[in-house]
Amino acid sequence: MTRRPFIAGNWKMHQTGASARVLVAEIRAAIPPHSYANVDVVLCPPYTALASVAQAIAGSELQLGAQDVSAHEWGAYTAQISAPMLLEFGTRYVIVGHSECRAYFDQHDEQINAKVRRCLQHGLIPIVAVGETHEEHVAGKARERVTGQIREAFAGVASGDVERAVVAYEPLWAIGSGTSDTPEQAASVIAAIRSAVPGLERARCLYGGSMKPENAAALLAQPEIDGGLIGGASLNAHSFAQIVDHARKAVAAS
Ligand code: 13P
Repeated sequence: MTRRPFIAGNWKMHQTGASARVLVAEIRAAIPPHSYANVDVVLCPPYTALASVAQAIAGSELQLGAQDVSAHEWGAYTAQISAPMLLEFGTRYVIVGHSECRAYFDQHDEQINAKVRRCLQHGLIPIVAVGETHEEHVAGKARERVTGQIREAFAGVASGDVERAVVAYEPLWAIGSGTSDTPEQAASVIAAIRSAVPGLERARCLYGGSMKPENAAALLAQPEIDGGLIGGASLNAHSFAQIVDHARKAVAAS
């Protein structure tokens, strides 16, 4: 691993404000403070728990992320949340283009590009998620699919801004399945992602899809893989802390 490792928990639609406070307290107790010297650790709760999590992480080096953002600044967009609203809580990162948002809420590449630009305009760092379906995977089309998604997501974005962004490669067939991609295969798709857009060679590229304590060390040992976007395992403080520790050790070993 050659770039600063980055471990983010995507809590998806889990945790109320009250339960989030408990989980943050457990995470704070489980991650030794010295870990933060070498690893960025980010929590992405649902919108309604942002305020609780912002309070609960105060005084620690945990950082706050959101799971989505509107492409619009303000206006008559019922149910949407804008970048300035996220900034009010001290949010630094936003997951953009998660496969669940693409699949269930019909988010398409053009909208994702608008969200990426909106984030960067406000100094929010997008965590741009890309990934191929099982059918695309077996047809040998993973690289083609994800490099297409990544070019669209960063269309018109200056390379200086591209390198500040974070990318998460999350093969759809691995998400929530219990089985991750192989470290070699994930690293090779990430290498293709990096070469698709100027600036990405310096950006942090994460792997996501059933990353857990049992497979994190092998995935993070790949020089192309700078960290993880963790779903299920981020809801358990002990598992999440173990993954952070694997990231810390991967830096020490490199
Ligand atoms: P799991 O870690 O639960 O597979 O989820 C991955 C993911 O979608 C993170 O954004």
